[in-house]
Amino acid sequence: MRKGVSQPVTVFHGETAVPGDKSISHRALMLGGLAVGETQIAGLLEGEDVLRTADAMRAMGADVERIGPGNWRVSGVGVGGLSEPEDVLEMGNAGTGARLLMGVLAGHDMTVFLTGDESLRSRPMSRVVTPLAMTGARFVAREGILMPLAVIGTAEPMPIEYRLPMASAQVKSAIMLAGLSAPGETIVTEPEATRDHTERMLRHFGAEVRLETGEAGARRIVLVGQPELVAADILVPRDISSAAFPLAAALIAGEAEVSLLGVGLNPHRSGILLTLLEMGAAIEKRNAREVGGEPVADLIATPGSLSGVTVPAERAPSMIDEYPILAIVAAFAEGETRMCGLGELRVKESNRLTAIRDGLTVNGIEAFVEGDDLIVRGQPGGVPGGGLVEARHDHRIAMSFLVMGTASENAVMVDDLSSIETSFPGFLDLMNDLGAEIGEVYS
Ligand code: S3P
Repeated sequence: MRKGVSQPVTVFHGETAVPGDKSISHRALMLGGLAVGETQIAGLLEGEDVLRTADAMRAMGADVERIGPGNWRVSGVGVGGLSEPEDVLEMGNAGTGARLLMGVLAGHDMTVFLTGDESLRSRPMSRVVTPLAMTGARFVAREGILMPLAVIGTAEPMPIEYRLPMASAQVKSAIMLAGLSAPGETIVTEPEATRDHTERMLRHFGAEVRLETGEAGARRIVLVGQPELVAADILVPRDISSAAFPLAAALIAGEAEVSLLGVGLNPHRSGILLTLLEMGAAIEKRNAREVGGEPVADLIATPGSLSGVTVPAERAPSMIDEYPILAIVAAFAEGETRMCGLGELRVKESNRLTAIRDGLTVNGIEAFVEGDDLIVRGQPGGVPGGGLVEARHDHRIAMSFLVMGTASENAVMVDDLSSIETSFPGFLDLMNDLGAEIGEVYS
């Protein structure tokens, strides 16, 4: 275990750029591998999760090559053209990689075994297995539909119409990826909007994807099956889910000005900004532009007094990965912050509802879970810190509490830093270059 400690600092300052977007990076490798021709990807996240997807695509016949830092070239095999890998696909900690690939595999006439680390092996796969089985693919899995599991795909899956029982871009995307091999239209209805990177990138590669409005305003996403995907270059925006950590550190610092360049601001991802602004945060958006079909801007954050807010459940899909860091900001805000409708946090890399509550509690902050809501009582006068937080194989838990340590009265320790590599390689150096004092503890 690589234990870490974050010491309180007073100044947090500088201009930086976080790594590429994880969601978009996985999709770029998969769709590049399914397209005909050569796709050049710039700004790819080289975190462990994405590297697992690169290995998996390579093991199935796509030519995936690293040209330089963040620059990758993928020569695709065409929709339905992947070949059976000789070995088990090891997906590590990557829930997105695993679930999206299961969709891809459902549309291939072959048998593929997938597994992952302790965290991924405990995460529910029934949410993708249920709709993918409707296409004609078959699955063999451990009790509870857990990994390791085998996908027995079919060359011509049936096009299905499916209403998502939960707000999940992973499930939506897995169904659409299976639908690529299906004749006719695959239709996914989502009661609440989730990130639409798959839809955007499929269009970028030439597929027809329509957005229609269904009953009660539900979103119907219609994919016309069996497209010829044509290779198209991709510039990956920087990950707002990673930018949220230095951004939060600036907001809670004694003295700070931090500029984060080229952050992806897909409207279905940027709920954290809305929430922080409601809390009174000083965040300025500059240089708004479009990068590879996604909105992007530079974000400039400075500290100031923050107030607790109620975050409505409807906002959860647009900031689902940002609740751990929001809870840290809430600890430094005046009054109570209530984050509603967070049932999905129980099935992330860890049970984030309990991981956040327990981490805050050992650091002297009152926090509790009421049903699916998380409540944090802020102590702007002084967040005690001084606790040892269990990371639970969860990168966002580890990084969030290291941010807490930058502004608490006493240092915050995290029992294992290794998960940070899954999404944010270079996190410690980037934070320390801005003024943090985060180090490894060798004991
Ligand atoms: C992701 C979707 C979200 C998110 C995950 C990435 C994606 O998961 O938490 O980090 O890239 O589609 P769910 O689909 O489970 O909400």
